[in-house]
Amino acid sequence: PQKGRLAGKTVVVTAGGTREPLDPVRYLTNHSSGKMGFAIANAFKQAGANVTLIAVNPLITPSVGIKLIQVETALELLDAVQQQFIHADILVMAAAVADYRPAKVADKKIKKTADNQTMALELVRNPDILQKIATIKKPGQLVIGFAAETNDLISNATKKIQAKNLDMIVANDVSQTGIGFNADNNQVTFLFADGKQIKTAVESKPRIADQLIEIISKQMQK
Ligand code: C5P
Repeated sequence: PQKGRLAGKTVVVTAGGTREPLDPVRYLTNHSSGKMGFAIANAFKQAGANVTLIAVNPLITPSVGIKLIQVETALELLDAVQQQFIHADILVMAAAVADYRPAKVADKKIKKTADNQTMALELVRNPDILQKIATIKKPGQLVIGFAAETNDLISNATKKIQAKNLDMIVANDVSQTGIGFNADNNQVTFLFADGKQIKTAVESKPRIADQLIEIISKQMQK
């Protein structure tokens, strides 16, 4: 059996930016690289947990012993998270889920035409995965979200704790270069449902992940 502070715990981590197809060759996405989610999955593994990583288009290979589920779209991610959450003690939603997807996916490549100088795309809202999880969450299950914001970081993140019924949110300023999306380093504020805040220094994503695991381990002991 695994040793470590989180031995015996089952953890689900999501990572990366969803891809929402327009046609067979194009999609809408965002700048999320998945690095933060991968670092979190690795840190949980190190702490002895059983880890399932649901990754959107992974460019990185997870550590040995991490179960990898690969998905593309927000709808596929929703499906996978709902299935895995049932058996989980902890869910960390580090994935950057597209808020909207194209209303129609063309089955053939969309062609430009001489008389169409502009083109309008119709988008529909994706479901909020964390809000759906909130409705099936049982006492003792820990749910942690991320908030990537360019402005009003703390107030926006605080609202999400309530709206998504989270135990904690990792607030991430993505307006600065060198931290956040696609970067190797990060600086975050851990915000708790009771209003407590812990701000980290600028550190590597694996170091930020270690701090997250430290906090979660303490929370699980309560
Ligand atoms: O509302 P916003 O996208 O800023 O919230 C971010 C958090 O919510 C992240 O943890 C993200 O993984 C999650 N999310 C979700 N379903 C969505 C959009 C975001 O679970 N459709």
